Amino acid sequence: MCGIMGYIGPKDAKEVLIDGLRRLEYRGYDSSGIAVLDGAELRIARAVGKISSLESLLGKEKISGNLGIGHTRWATHGRPSENNAHPHMVNGVAVVHNGIIENYAELKRELISKGSVFRSETDTEVISHLIDSYLSKGEDLFKAVISAIRRLEGAFAIAVVSEKEPDYFIVAKNFSPLIIGVGEGENFVASDIPALLPYTRRIITLSENEIAKISRDKTEIFDIRNGVQIKPEIKTVDMSPSVAEKEGHKHFMHKEIFEIPKVFTDTMLGRIDRENSELLPDELAVRTMDFSRIIIVACGTSYHAGLIGKYYFEQISKIPAEAEFASEFRYRNPVLKKDDLAIFISQSGETADTLGALKDVKELGIPTLAICNVMNSSIARLADNVIYTRAGIEIGVASTKAFIAQTEVLLMLSLFFASRRGTIGEEERKRLINEFSRMPGILKNTLKTESYIKEIAPRFIRSRDFIYLGRGINFPVALEGALKLKEISYIHAEGYAAGEMKHGPIALIDEDVPVLVIANRGSNLKKIISNILEAKSRGGILIGVITKGDEETKRLLDFAIEVDETDEFFQPFVNSLPLQLMAYHIADMKGTDVDQPRNLAKSVTVE
Ligand code: F6R
Repeated sequence: MCGIMGYIGPKDAKEVLIDGLRRLEYRGYDSSGIAVLDGAELRIARAVGKISSLESLLGKEKISGNLGIGHTRWATHGRPSENNAHPHMVNGVAVVHNGIIENYAELKRELISKGSVFRSETDTEVISHLIDSYLSKGEDLFKAVISAIRRLEGAFAIAVVSEKEPDYFIVAKNFSPLIIGVGEGENFVASDIPALLPYTRRIITLSENEIAKISRDKTEIFDIRNGVQIKPEIKTVDMSPSVAEKEGHKHFMHKEIFEIPKVFTDTMLGRIDRENSELLPDELAVRTMDFSRIIIVACGTSYHAGLIGKYYFEQISKIPAEAEFASEFRYRNPVLKKDDLAIFISQSGETADTLGALKDVKELGIPTLAICNVMNSSIARLADNVIYTRAGIEIGVASTKAFIAQTEVLLMLSLFFASRRGTIGEEERKRLINEFSRMPGILKNTLKTESYIKEIAPRFIRSRDFIYLGRGINFPVALEGALKLKEISYIHAEGYAAGEMKHGPIALIDEDVPVLVIANRGSNLKKIISNILEAKSRGGILIGVITKGDEETKRLLDFAIEVDETDEFFQPFVNSLPLQLMAYHIADMKGTDVDQPRNLAKSVTVE
């Protein structure tokens, strides 16, 4: 949700900023802008639309300089327009911001009453006017930024540059991500690592309430609350710039789906001892083991992984479990107990609702565990324990490989708890651990369903509604399949528990409505077949994900996507791939913007 980039050094700042913003475009893409110190003047360029629009504008405007900040926006306050695009400049000081200033309305009223003139509808502009008000009281830029920040409530990462201070710029952070890239005679800032990889792998992650003064060869960090200087901790990230390249795939989403077999292997590496059929406790160990209930909190796709996790914890570990939307959980005063374990799932580790829920739960003294993909992200750092999914950077806005890795961690964790609590027999445990090793091969095989999916996808590009049905552990898979389709193809899709269909949704079914049914061989198949027949007798077009060789079920369907047989607990992995590919190919054939669908952003850092 908005990306920030900043640069100081010998290079052409404009080039570095545009390159970085391109790599951050997944965070927001409705408008963008840069401010570059060109001689003694801060020059601003802003454009509505993607970074390419800004580039075209910059082709006409001759801006050059070695210090600048940039921003790519996902609109929250004020529609996408040039005026609302960042940077916002007041009296030679430009600001870019990621996050939300919750008390902006009262600050704006105060500032207007003192004579400030606002040019945008954004919350960000109050930061510019606040800084200006402190500068006009005689404070220097650094002090003025601190004074302004102390007035702000909400989440922010900001970068500030001034015409009067050509040797440095300032960044600060509170609950929105910001990292500093350390170079030789040059320094960078960005909202996320991929933006920095072409330039440096040495990074400093800013923590909450930190402010940094960044010059060509120095980074000084201070605590905003007390002004105490903090020694920067530089870490070297082990990532290649190619993580932010499509490497021959048409879209990042496609590349990321095809990475899934490897992601599955990476995520279990060192956590499962295949030879001894054991789970290795180190990272999976949760500080307290004597909890009596698990509460899983997440949003969107991560919530769907959480729903599968609920199933795992109940079926395998025999621990009562609930899965909750973070945005609902926070505001309904849930009854929590000291012997609950709260698990927070987030790919980005920055989702505002999930982060807010984690803060609330921590305040109650309840043990917390995060399952995150992004290292050192806010949620990962705040929770008592963290287990990282090792999906690598996910750039496609629609989450694919991270969902598989989250679900995999939940399955490992449920097995770990079950082993420790003795709720699983030796044989069953061995069988499931063995199934883990078969999975990467099975997933590779499952990717071969793509050719059939590509063949049938054109039949559905004009569909207006889709229904996804699943039962048991495959019900959340149906929800996730429907979410994927709607977010990238803009086709309305609903996921239902197959048994619920007859209680209402069946009224929607006619010959124009494709019904995608998850119907692998397993305990639910007979019941699912009844649901297939119910839909079929109402004229629905039936697409099924079925077990290879199940001719009986295949005969009932109009289209059958055949996947390998696997244990029921592993079916979510095998079934999700064709659903992701189906959404991808329908969207691609419709010509939508698959990696950056309208109205969405990869990391939702506002509530
Ligand atoms: C959908 C999608 C979103 C995210 C949700 C939570 O494809 O990606 O629904 O799952 O915004 O994001 P994280 O996992 O980063 O907390």
